[in-house]
Amino acid sequence: MKSILITGCSSGFGLEIAKHFLDRDWAVIATMRSPRADVLPPSDRLHVVSLDVTDANSIRRAVEAAGPIDVLVNNAGVGLLNALEGVPMETARGVFETNTLGVIAMTQAVLPEMRKRMGGTIINVSSSTTLKPLPLLSVYTASKAAVNAFTESLSLELAPFNIGVHLVVPGRAPGTPFSENARRERMNGGVPEAYKDFAQGVFGKMQDTSAITRPMDVAEAVWRAATDPTCPLRLAAGADALALVGRE
Ligand SMILES: NC(=O)c1ccc[n+]([C@@H]2O[C@H](COP(=O)([O-])OP(=O)(O)OC[C@H]3O[C@@H](n4cnc5c(N)ncnc54)[C@H](OP(=O)(O)O)[C@@H]3O)[C@@H](O)[C@H]2O)c1
Repeated sequence: MKSILITGCSSGFGLEIAKHFLDRDWAVIATMRSPRADVLPPSDRLHVVSLDVTDANSIRRAVEAAGPIDVLVNNAGVGLLNALEGVPMETARGVFETNTLGVIAMTQAVLPEMRKRMGGTIINVSSSTTLKPLPLLSVYTASKAAVNAFTESLSLELAPFNIGVHLVVPGRAPGTPFSENARRERMNGGVPEAYKDFAQGVFGKMQDTSAITRPMDVAEAVWRAATDPTCPLRLAAGADALALVGRE
C-alpha cells in the first residue's frame, strides 16, 4: 500500500487531499499542529500525527512516527495581505518560517530514507500569486516564489535518485479559511493609513468569484503529481490558475 504524508491537514486543501487519498486506498499520515482525528473519516489507513513545520523537534518526531513514506505533500502555509509598510519584520519572518523554511526542513527530513530506497515524490503547494503579481501580497508571494525556485533546483539534484519533485500551483480559494486565518493572526495592525484607499480598491477586486480554485482541484492535481509518471514539474490547480498558465 502506498503512503502519503501531508502537512496542514486541519482544514482547506490539506484536509481535502487527505480525504482524496484515503478514498483511493492509500495509507495517509495526516499531520496537524493540533491533531483532531474527527475532521477525517475513520479508517485504519489514517494516522493523525502532530506536526508544526517551524519546529525541528516536531518535524523529527513526526517523520519518525510516520516511518517510510512514498509521497510528501508540503501544503501547510499561512497568508498575509497588507502593504509592506504595515508588515512588522517579525511577521514577515514568520511567513517565511512556515511557507518557505518549513518546506525545506520537511523535505530535508524525509530525503535520506527516500534516497536510500531510490524512490519517492515531493509535492510542494505554491500559489498563483507567483504567476501573476498582485498588490499587498509582496511578502507572501516572495515566500512562495522561493518555494518555486527551491523545487525547480531540487528536482534536478534528486532525479538521479528517482525522486520526483513537483509544484502544485493553486489559484484563489475563497472556500478555505486561509484569508480569515491571515486576517485574524497577521493583520492586527491593519493597513497603514496612506494605503487605505488603494487597499479598498484591491479588496473590492478580490470579491470577483467568476473563476476560483476549489479544494478538490488541488486534491486532483496532487493526485496526478503523486501517481502519473508523466506529470510535469509544475501543475496549476483551479480554473483561475489554469487560465494564467494555459492548460497543461
Ligand atoms: N486559499 C487560497 O486562496 C490559496 C491559494 C493558493 C495557495 N494556497 C496555499 O495552499 C496551502 C493551504 O492553504 P488553505 O487554503 O488550505 O488554507 P488553510 O485552510 O488555512 O490551511 C492551512 C493549513 O496550514 C496549517 N499550518 C499553518 N502553519 C503551520 C505550521 N507552522 N505547521 C504546520 N501546519 C501549519 C494550518 O494549520 P492550523 O489549523 O494549525 O493553523 C492549516 O491546516 C497553503 O500553503 C497556502 O499558502 C492557498
